[in-house]
Parts: sequence; C-alpha cells; structure tokens
Amino acid sequence: MNIAAGLRNWRRAKEILSVLIFDYGFGHVVDQLDLGGVLPVGRRRDMPPAHAALSGPERLRLALGQLGPAFIKLGQMLGARADLLSLAYVSALRRLQDEAPPVGFEEIRQVVEAELEMPLDRAFARFDRKPLSAASLGQVHAARLPDGREVTVKVLRPGVERVVEADLQILSDAAYLLPRRVPALRRYDLPALVRQFASQLEDEMVYTLEAHNAERIGRSLAEAGLRVRVPAVVSELTTKRVLTAERVYGKRVDRLGEGEVGFDRMEAAVQFARAMLRQIFLDGFFHADPHQGNVLVGDDGTISLLDFGMVGYLDPRTRRLLVEAVRHAYGEDVDGVVDDLVELGALGPDTDLAAVRGELSRIVSRFVAMPPRQMAIGELFSRTLRILWVHQIRVPPELSVAAKTLLLTEAVCRDLSPDFDLRSLARPMAEEEMAKAFTPQAVAERLTKEVETAARRLGRLPSRLEHVLSLLGTGSLRLRIDEQGADERAWGLNRSINRLALSVLSGSLLVSGSIYLAGAAGPLHLGLGAAAVAGGIVLGLAAALGLLRPGRL
Ligand SMILES: Nc1ncnc2c1ncn2[C@@H]1O[C@H](COP(=O)(O)OP(=O)(O)O)[C@@H](O)[C@H]1O
Ligand SMILES: [Mg+2]
Repeated sequence: MNIAAGLRNWRRAKEILSVLIFDYGFGHVVDQLDLGGVLPVGRRRDMPPAHAALSGPERLRLALGQLGPAFIKLGQMLGARADLLSLAYVSALRRLQDEAPPVGFEEIRQVVEAELEMPLDRAFARFDRKPLSAASLGQVHAARLPDGREVTVKVLRPGVERVVEADLQILSDAAYLLPRRVPALRRYDLPALVRQFASQLEDEMVYTLEAHNAERIGRSLAEAGLRVRVPAVVSELTTKRVLTAERVYGKRVDRLGEGEVGFDRMEAAVQFARAMLRQIFLDGFFHADPHQGNVLVGDDGTISLLDFGMVGYLDPRTRRLLVEAVRHAYGEDVDGVVDDLVELGALGPDTDLAAVRGELSRIVSRFVAMPPRQMAIGELFSRTLRILWVHQIRVPPELSVAAKTLLLTEAVCRDLSPDFDLRSLARPMAEEEMAKAFTPQAVAERLTKEVETAARRLGRLPSRLEHVLSLLGTGSLRLRIDEQGADERAWGLNRSINRLALSVLSGSLLVSGSIYLAGAAGPLHLGLGAAAVAGGIVLGLAAALGLLRPGRL
C-alpha cells in the first residue's frame, strides 16, 4: 500500500471511529478495549439525545447505515449469523435496509457510456432518468432497447469500489489487531470472517458474475418446470459495472396483503419453496438473499427471482449429510442428527458430545411438536448451528448461509400463503430429490466427478494439516510424530496424509459404488458398481492396515 492510500485509510478509520463513538455512543467499547491512548479520539462521550434513548442494537444498526456500503453489508451479514450474535442484535441488524440517496442521471450516463463504449441513446431507445431503486452499491433504471424490449439497467455507483476497498482494508486490519487486545474475541476467528465477507462483497461489485449466477440458476429452474423464473440477462449490454436484464412486472410479496388475488396463493408458495429447496439441496448453488425485495409476483402468480449478487454453495458431501440430518430430525433420531453434524464438522478439544446430544434433542423434539408458525426450519437450523458453535464443533461456514436462505424463503412463503408449512414440503421433497439424484445415470456422471473430487482433495490435504492435527488432539485419530528429526517428522506427516487420502478415496468409492449398485439397471451398471465397491474395500483395507502398522504406507 502506498503512503497516500495509507493516509486515506487513516483518515477514514478516524471518521469511522468518530461516528461510532460520538454519534452513536460506542465510546465504552473503546474504554473496554483500553484503546483510549492509542486512538486519535478525544474523551468526549456524549451522543445526541435522540440516540441516547435507543438500545445498543438499534444504535449499531443506525451507525452501520451511516457508515456506507461495506458496513451496511457487514451488518446484513452479521444479521444472518444467529449462531454468532445474540437475538437482540440479530433482529436489529435484519432491519438494516440497503438504501442510499440516488446518484444523479448525468453521472449514471457517464458510467453506462464508458462501460458500453457507446452513447446512451444508441444502446437504449429510452432510459428513465429516475431510478426504480437506489441501494448502497448500485441503482436500477428502467429502459427500452432499440428493438422494443423493456429492460432494467443496474449501474454500479461511481467510485464505490474504492470506498469499499478502503473499508475492507480497515476491517481486515481491525480483525487482526482487536483479538490481540481482547482475548474474548479470539474464539471468533475474525480474520477468517472478514476474509469471507470481503470476497463476497468484492464479487457483488462484479456484475458479469451476477449475470452468470442469474443464468445458471435460471437454467436450473427452467429445467425443473417450476413457475419461478429469472429475468433473462441481455449479455451484449452487460459489463463489470452495468447489468441489463429483461424487465419483469409484479408486486413485492410483502405488499400483496392477505386478501384475494388472481392466483392460488398456496400453490405459489409451494412453487417458490420448491425452487429454493432445489437450488440448495440439489444444485448446491443457490440465491442466498431471497428477501421480500428480491421477489416479484405477477398477476398470474408467476414468481420472478431477482438480484443474484449473493450466492451460496454447498458441496455434494455437505448436501448429502444435511439431507440426512433433516431426515433424522423428522424421525426424532437425535443420535442420527448428531452423527451427521459431527461428520460435517470438526470437534474441538473440549467438545462434550453428551451435552450436544442433550441440547439438540430438546430443540428437535420441540420442532417436531410445534405448529409451523412457532418454529420454522430456518430457525431450527440457526439454533442448531448456535449449539454446535457453543460446543466448538466447527461446521463449514456455508451452512449458516444456507440457514439464512431457508429463513428468508419461509418468510416469503408465509407472505404468499400464511398457512404454508415448509416442513411438510421439505421431507417428501428431500426424499424425492434424493431418489432422482441417485438414478443410475446421475450416479454414473457423479461417480467420475467424485473420484475427481477425491483426487483434488488429495492434493489439498497438506493445507488441511491443521484440521488433521485438531482431530489428533481429540483422540479420535492417533498418530505418533517422532520428535527426533525434522525429516522423520515430515515422513510421519507424509504417511498420515497418504493414509487419510486413501481413506477419503476408498470412502468415496464405497459410497458411490454402493449407491450405484442399489440403482443398477443392467450388467454394465452392476459391473461398474461392483468394481467401485471392490476398489473401495481394497483401498480401505490398505488404509486400515497402514494405521495398524505405522511403519508402512
Ligand atoms: N428485471 C427486473 N424487472 C423489474 N424490476 C427490477 C428488475 N431488476 C431489478 N428490479 C427492481 O430494482 C430493485 C433493485 O434491484 P436488485 O437487483 O435487487 O438490486 P440491489 O442489488 O440493489 O438490491 C428490485 O427490488 C426491483 O424492484
Ligand atoms: Mg435487491
């Protein structure tokens, strides 16, 4: 970083602190952190009386809103982390609106012309000066193409990339520095949290990525024949900072009211839920922000899904375990749920599995007994994640994104039809989708992919040594590492990597082979399946023998 940028960041950091401390009364945090001597802020602690009357979570929400795009998005992300924050903060942050004063038309014209490399009136027959919406990163204008098609044009705010970049740098510095001063923060792994957040936010400022996400999800929904669609992207008029798409018409779901409409409300809710469950559990690639503002319902009940800036991913293994966990939860099989979740995550050194079982069993049985309005799937999911977190079971962070997506999905479905119960849909759908996913053809395709993935995992293992070591610490996997020489130690690690790699490979062969066998339709399928299973057994045995006799492998 050069000096000018450093100075700019320094000024901006001061500005951020002054908003937090003077305007919103977070001075006590500075006191607690004992930063008074370090920071360029005075000792004044009075905030405007209007703010003094508000609760801490409310003040935080307002402060983040005032601090601009990176902080608004940060607040929204934290609002989805019921596993990390208390309920008061989560519910205040969920109300953080992504709004900003609109940019003037001339500035918008400049961005569009520079990006499309042509005058505005050559690209568009009409371009509305007044935006349809203005958010912190971009604003949307209605327009018409020369061929008569009505479109919307999303334009990135001029200069926003630089502002966000500076704020992300400040946040990342803070994430490294704060835990040094405040031990209590160390359990949060702030640097990882900021890294995840930063890459998501950077992606949101690249509209070609958003266009790609929209096309991919649109294709999947069209294939499924659902009445949920994604507006077509006009790729000739889409660049990094300008996104042009077919305009759709409809109402926001939260403005439908409770009364009669020209379509079957329950059916619309079912369609929407199926569309979201399909993305999450079957595709593993999903719209991760389906809040009411991103969903429009047409007069005929057709739903349009907008805004693909934020997407979530779940790898096949996570998906499979998740579906299993949902099935076990329905069957009130708490041990099954715990096993699935433990397999998904890594145990901490002090994890008390009996306590986890006890707490999970309480919420699972409550979930099964309660009417849907009182506990939604998304909520069960979030609470489960919180229990896992408290007990130091680390699960992939993508799961909290999926949990938030389910919560938002349920909220949209209830707006469509207040009696809608996602639970009654999720189970049969999980089974049906799983059955579909495991037809011999589908498995044949995946068999190849799984082996590829296993091979890739093999290559990635050394970087996951930390994880291996944490497993060793729990006693669930024992390995003696000789302290005598670096070479020998490297040897030991190498052996353990080989063994793990073998187990991964054999596991995936066994699983895919047996699934294949179960659905086999003919001698070829049987042969392939049997070969995979046999291979899996041989490799598995090799790995096991290696474990028994540490000199080999
Ligand atoms: N294809 C479209 N057709 C109709 N309205 C749209 C379309 N795309 C966006 N809008 C309107 O603009 C608003 C903001 O668009 P969105 O893509 O959600 O941007 P942001 O990322 O700023 O939330 C939407 O809530 C919707 O009202
Ligand atoms: Mg939006």
